[in-house]
Amino acid sequence: MLANFRVGHGQDAHRLVAGRPLVIGGVTIPSERGADAHSDGDVLLHALSDALLSTYALGDIGKLFPPSDPAHAGLDSRRILAEVLTRLVRTAGRVEFLNVAAVVTLDSPKLGERREAVAASVAQALGVGAERVGITFKTSEGLAPDHVQASVSLLVRCEPLHADPVTYKV
Ligand code: C5P
Ligand code: MG
Repeated sequence: MLANFRVGHGQDAHRLVAGRPLVIGGVTIPSERGADAHSDGDVLLHALSDALLSTYALGDIGKLFPPSDPAHAGLDSRRILAEVLTRLVRTAGRVEFLNVAAVVTLDSPKLGERREAVAASVAQALGVGAERVGITFKTSEGLAPDHVQASVSLLVRCEPLHADPVTYKV
């Protein structure tokens, strides 16, 4: 069976406002401000979901979950990720997540103590070990104090479920 390697990349940003939860990779972080978003505003899971869709040119989560749809208000981003995984497997067959490399940019609060929890949460959502999920935290050095953003790169290996390799003779 032929295996395909695919790179994915996604990113997301939200404005920070008072009175909203701050959810990063499925982990709720104690914070006075959170993402101003239609869903739970989890920038890391949104960037991850877009990165996964990008591996097979499946569009983006804004297309799958239009913010204009009231049914998506307050949506748990793990549901977005689950739908993305379903679609990916439908297209790509058996998928192995080799590694996920995520960068979260946020000036405050500090997230360093949460690194293991965030990596474990993302790993669980993908069904892989936490050693495959690298989480980098950065400040914006004060350039974007009202924003939280995330960028995710990843590598997947896929094995088409039904594809018998076709050999062309010339
Ligand atoms: O952005 P900068 O390079 O100044 O980040 C310095 C350190 O602060 C890094 O080790 C990073 O892990 C940590 N950090 C953090 N929480 C944030 C932003 C950065 O723990 N919200
Ligand atoms: Mg620095």
